[in-house]
Amino acid sequence: MERILTRWIDIPDLRHLNVYEAHGGYKALRKALFDMTPEEIINEVKASNLRGRGGAAFPTGVKWSFIPKDSKKPVYVCCNADESEPGTFANRYQLENDPHGIIEGILITCRAVGAHTCYVYLRGEFNLQKRRLDEAIAEARAKGYVGRNIMGSGFDVEIYTHRGAGAYICGEETGLLESLEGKRAYPRNRPPFPAIQGAFGCPTVVNNVETLTNVPHIITRGGDWYKSIGPEKSPGPKLFCLSGHVNKPGLYELPMGYPLKDLIYEVGGGILGGKKLKGVIPGGSSFPIFTAEEAVKVNMDFDSVRAAGSLMGTAGVMVMNEDTCMVDALRTIAHFYHHESCGQCTPCREGCGWIEKLLIDLEAGRGRMEDLEILIDAATNMEGNTVCVLADSLSMPVKSFVPKFRDEFEEHVRLGRCPFRETGTAAKGHAAAAAAR
Ligand SMILES: Cc1cc2nc3c(=O)[nH]c(=O)nc-3n(C[C@H](O)[C@H](O)[C@H](O)COP(=O)(O)O)c2cc1C
Repeated sequence: MERILTRWIDIPDLRHLNVYEAHGGYKALRKALFDMTPEEIINEVKASNLRGRGGAAFPTGVKWSFIPKDSKKPVYVCCNADESEPGTFANRYQLENDPHGIIEGILITCRAVGAHTCYVYLRGEFNLQKRRLDEAIAEARAKGYVGRNIMGSGFDVEIYTHRGAGAYICGEETGLLESLEGKRAYPRNRPPFPAIQGAFGCPTVVNNVETLTNVPHIITRGGDWYKSIGPEKSPGPKLFCLSGHVNKPGLYELPMGYPLKDLIYEVGGGILGGKKLKGVIPGGSSFPIFTAEEAVKVNMDFDSVRAAGSLMGTAGVMVMNEDTCMVDALRTIAHFYHHESCGQCTPCREGCGWIEKLLIDLEAGRGRMEDLEILIDAATNMEGNTVCVLADSLSMPVKSFVPKFRDEFEEHVRLGRCPFRETGTAAKGHAAAAAAR
């Protein structure tokens, strides 16, 4: 397949403006400014069926169309570059290697929704990525692509980069907006949605980096072209973050709908150490795990993964082999959500901690059979009872790991120890578990 989002692999130095321009860069912006109305841009993106890559898969053109056309208040675009979902590492490479692709996507989005200011919210650890983006913004500004009167069109856009302090919750769009406004990143109740009341009380579009980088390609080649890549309702080139027990982990661009089996066994070179596959989380740690039998039947697009009982989220594909202790794997996940819960909502603040505690005990052989029911019960009570879905992000793994690998959880209770302790990958995790205790 032609590389679209990862063109930098074939084009060295794509991050520099002269190289980006030599390969067609900023032509889509010119087209959007001079040959298309804002409405035509939105319609083209709607026609492409592009869906958000930040995790929720919401149709991008539809989201843009919610911005009031005659807003008396300023309209903002926020580019979500927080990228904190475990197992997810696409945006960082895009920021490093294709910053102009992101800037061009931002500028076209601003034109579509009538925004003159964009904030790029980067996770706290993204030093290099921020530097590369700042350098590219400076280059684009010098060339008249950012700032006042872009390309002589009369249209103005300022782009500001803003680094967070490294909290997962700052990636949640309303937590992001609070943080951007200088406050603690407590997510907001919705409605009102950001399209009506976002940054500084004004209409705001929040889009993920990868979502925005699709936009110039859609404007140049058309929505019909885009829709022809992968399944029509969930189309496009997709960045898959493959990690865990595969021989060739990494970032891979593939068409939506690519079989998970081929991603693991062909692209990823098969299971590490020639071992058997045990489970796969397809979309970052927030989503239900697939057993090996389920995983090999799934195609990787939003609708197929949902139909198979999980969600594709950020396409952070985490592969686990037969040596993985599933109790320990779930304990690690619970530790993350407990640590990252912002604490605003009681079910999340207390529930994530309770679940982690139960899992620490189960993994160490101190658990009871009834703890398995308590885990499911606690997870169920967290769901849908909080301002944002961070609580659901732990609930979903719990409610899939426990029933799907129940024998293994029970074995920990029966033996009074972890059966993988000496031999399995869990052995490595025990130091962390001991530290957490
Ligand atoms: C706890 C939590 C963390 C999130 N972290 C991110 C993130 O790091 N990056 C991101 O783009 N979206 C993240 N999201 C999703 C955003 O809230 C939002 O849906 C997304 O930025 C919208 O962009 P899109 O429509 O382009 O996907 C997170 C959501 C939740 C609930």
